[in-house]
Amino acid sequence: MGNKIKLGLLGYPVAHSKSPLIHSMLADFKGLDVSYELLLTRPEDLKARVKELFEEGYHGFNVTVPHKLAVIDSLVNVSKVAKSVGAVNTCIRTKNGFAGFNTDIMGFSKALDKNGIEVGGHDVVVYGAGGAARSVVFSLLLKKPASLSIINRSRENALKLIDDIKGGIDTSVVSCKTEEEILSENKRFVAVQTTSAELTTGESIVKNEAMFELFDAAYDIVAVKEPTPFIKGANARGIKVANGFDMLYYQAQEAFELWTGTKITDAEAEKVRKELRQ
Ligand code: ATR
Repeated sequence: MGNKIKLGLLGYPVAHSKSPLIHSMLADFKGLDVSYELLLTRPEDLKARVKELFEEGYHGFNVTVPHKLAVIDSLVNVSKVAKSVGAVNTCIRTKNGFAGFNTDIMGFSKALDKNGIEVGGHDVVVYGAGGAARSVVFSLLLKKPASLSIINRSRENALKLIDDIKGGIDTSVVSCKTEEEILSENKRFVAVQTTSAELTTGESIVKNEAMFELFDAAYDIVAVKEPTPFIKGANARGIKVANGFDMLYYQAQEAFELWTGTKITDAEAEKVRKELRQ
């Protein structure tokens, strides 16, 4: 291997990713020669691709939809946390192959902190129980909420999520609820939206408008500039909102620090966050 740090993103699709922009800015700050390529990879080609990246001297790579769970089979080691949420988003070269980590968990946690959204001791409602929701729920539980309710179209999938992560963290405050149940409790909560449903349907994931009246703060992990119906609903009521760009940024920062052994300063982080918002 030369001095170039070869990195990339495995996903399907990957074309609109902001990760190359983030990593090239971080590399410039540190004066490092980094390449970060978009590696479009079909599910059936994943195993061969990971092997190829190792042979080609890649230092590491990120993993996105739909490979975060499937990639585990191609790794020589997986962190305990990544295993328990069933999602790897960052892989690092080791002697015999790649090791898997999850930086989405810390990324989401930092994004909440940066936006002044407090979770510890508060009630939290999470919309969705897909792949992204796993890291989000785990991250929220690390902050010790008073309760965490999951609202999902399929109750069965929400129950499976809880069952899957319970080996890695205490899930005693987590339950699966309907909007009606939440409304009847009439308690304010931090609301988190984890699905891509609004992007595909154009409809609000919040079915009963009265839910918005109970929002204390709203975080949508979707990283798009145009406000989603979820963000619009919260905005209309003057509630503190944040979108997914900060989670995207902070998961990237942690991955970059792991790959390069460098530490990104707050001033550097601010520059990239600003660029992403533009
Ligand atoms: P992931 O997070 O795994 O990448 P996603 O497609 O963004 O995937 O999100 C999947 C989540 O969105 C699931 O919670 C899914 O609900 P089900 O478990 O019931 O399938 C939810 N979802 C997808 N389309 C939806 C829709 N039209 N209405 C409501 N929820 C939807």
